[in-house]
Amino acid sequence: SKRKAIIAGNWKMNKTPSEAKALLTELAPMVKDADCEVIACVPFVDLTVALEATEGTNIQIGAENCHWEESGAFTGEISAQMLAEMGVPYVVLGHSERRQYFGETDETVNKRTKAALAHGLKPIVCVGELLWERECDITEEVIARQIKLDLFGVSAEDVKKTVIAYEPVWAIGTGKTATADQAEEVCAFIRATLAKLYGQEVADAVTIQYGGSMNAGNCEELLSKTDVDGGLIGGASLVAEKFQPIVAAAS
Ligand code: G3H
Repeated sequence: SKRKAIIAGNWKMNKTPSEAKALLTELAPMVKDADCEVIACVPFVDLTVALEATEGTNIQIGAENCHWEESGAFTGEISAQMLAEMGVPYVVLGHSERRQYFGETDETVNKRTKAALAHGLKPIVCVGELLWERECDITEEVIARQIKLDLFGVSAEDVKKTVIAYEPVWAIGTGKTATADQAEEVCAFIRATLAKLYGQEVADAVTIQYGGSMNAGNCEELLSKTDVDGGLIGGASLVAEKFQPIVAAAS
């Protein structure tokens, strides 16, 4: 791939603050020579310790969601403005678990993406088809629709700062990985869709990750593909010895 790889862990609802500190303290020396960007996306309550534990290291921190309003009567929500003030550089948006369990739609993902960018956060926008959609052979329609809607109204300059994570929903947490060819096919399609919407120069600048049961055993082949510029890693990001080899493979 022509782009610098980005390997991001998505911890989901795992790790208490003390566990977060322990994991990042263990991981930091193991990934210090990485040639790729290394990110840990952590629960909101872990952000403070995570930022402290990674100060002066090459690990960057991300949140796992943000609301689109700056403040207001939205009990339980966290705004992009709040994350920006904390110094959090990245935020995962539109993860399939948010879409499946918490009613997020392309419209709300779009609002969150615009809010994140307006506050200087780099969004990691997740797209991916359900198993049923793949079986019906509408993967490309689903992905094109998500890309168009999630990025609607985002400027070309801001699209360049956006990371896209392709996560086939059937491969998440299931141990079923897309084959490297399947991953490449959709990541290349995402880049072609971006090129149509924003031009080739923008499309070539965007980092496109694969996510879904990526691990030490399959990462090398996945990351060797032209349009696979990194990974968004769930399960294997929770243990330093499992995450480090993926970072090494991207280096
Ligand atoms: O965001 C990460 C993905 O949902 C992948 O999770 O690596 O546990 O399959 P997984």
